[in-house]
Amino acid sequence: MSEPVPVGVIGAGRIGRLHAKNLRQIRGARLAAIADPRLAAAEQAAVGNGARATEDWRELLQDDVIRAVVVCSPTDTHATIIEGAAAAGKHIFCEKPIDLDVDRAREALRAAERSGVRIQVGFNRRFDPSLGRIAELVRRGEIGTPELVRISSRDPHPPPIDYLKSSGGLFLDMSIHDLDMARHLVGDEVREIFAAGSNLVDREIGRAGDIDTATITLQFRNGALGVIDNSRRAVYGYDQRVEVFGSNGCLTVGNPTPTSVSLWNENGRSSDRLMDFFVDRYAESFVIEMEAFIDCIRVGREPTATGLDGVRAIELALAAQRSLQERRPVRLVMERPRERLGP
Ligand SMILES: NC(=O)c1ccc[n+]([C@@H]2O[C@H](COP(=O)([O-])OP(=O)(O)OC[C@H]3O[C@@H](n4cnc5c(N)ncnc54)[C@H](O)[C@@H]3O)[C@@H](O)[C@H]2O)c1
Repeated sequence: MSEPVPVGVIGAGRIGRLHAKNLRQIRGARLAAIADPRLAAAEQAAVGNGARATEDWRELLQDDVIRAVVVCSPTDTHATIIEGAAAAGKHIFCEKPIDLDVDRAREALRAAERSGVRIQVGFNRRFDPSLGRIAELVRRGEIGTPELVRISSRDPHPPPIDYLKSSGGLFLDMSIHDLDMARHLVGDEVREIFAAGSNLVDREIGRAGDIDTATITLQFRNGALGVIDNSRRAVYGYDQRVEVFGSNGCLTVGNPTPTSVSLWNENGRSSDRLMDFFVDRYAESFVIEMEAFIDCIRVGREPTATGLDGVRAIELALAAQRSLQERRPVRLVMERPRERLGP
């Protein structure tokens, strides 16, 4: 077996620390360095992993040993870092969204395409064993033609307000996972989108110009429909449910709980609380997506969640924003799914 792929992680916040920890367990990879302007955070994430810490991602890119980077810095830094990594010949895993501006995202992806490096976008839910399985069953025709997809995706609590301010808002930060999942499950592009949103959870979020509660209706080119609902606050835990209904049946994924025990007594029936948040609910998916990325580098395969998938999801999130602002359905003009990024 060839040597493990040396990887650098850029950004040692919530998701950077998680990927750094997972990289340690992945046999085909070796965590080589972590960069974060908060050096103490980088050092903390590097400790015990045999990795070095640096304040500067540009310095990390100069390290000839490193073959791939995992971009986990705030969203508004991703495009610049992708371009830097592409110029340095490093393969790229980039957290979602690629950028808040779709043209900027395309520009960065073209830089990666020109330099011939692989790029995978952090749509980890595609790699969740249950969601991955329903996608496979849909593809195999087990429910006939998919006609409806329903996704409920509710966070237990909002993220810190400073994070929200640079996140691009609910559609680009949170719904983007659901928009990607809907596209992935139906296997077609969206023709029209209609979004509604409210500020019901925290006034601070409204003051920051964002919403915390939303519904999104999708119509795909093949006529299938999708409904997504999002909230930044579910008092009972992280609520993630998906259903695909088709001409020959239906597939559902519910909420896993830490155990499957249910207690029945004179008060009724109770079971474990839902998982806390994405770190727990999607723990396996984060490992599997990183294994898949490393595997793509090792065998020279195209990733499953591509740069183009990242662009499509941004287009959908921006169309949802526009629909909310203009209070009307928005039509999307898109090329075929597997077309290149264009000039
Ligand atoms: N796939 C998922 O489920 C998922 C979950 C959470 C976050 N994300 C995405 O990951 C990104 C980071 O989110 P987070 O929650 O970890 O944020 P965070 O605020 O917890 O962490 C960001 C880190 O990046 C560091 N940083 C800032 N500028 C930097 C730079 N130029 N170079 C290197 N590091 C820099 C910050 O100091 C901080 O430590 C966002 O784009 C977010 O959308 C994805």
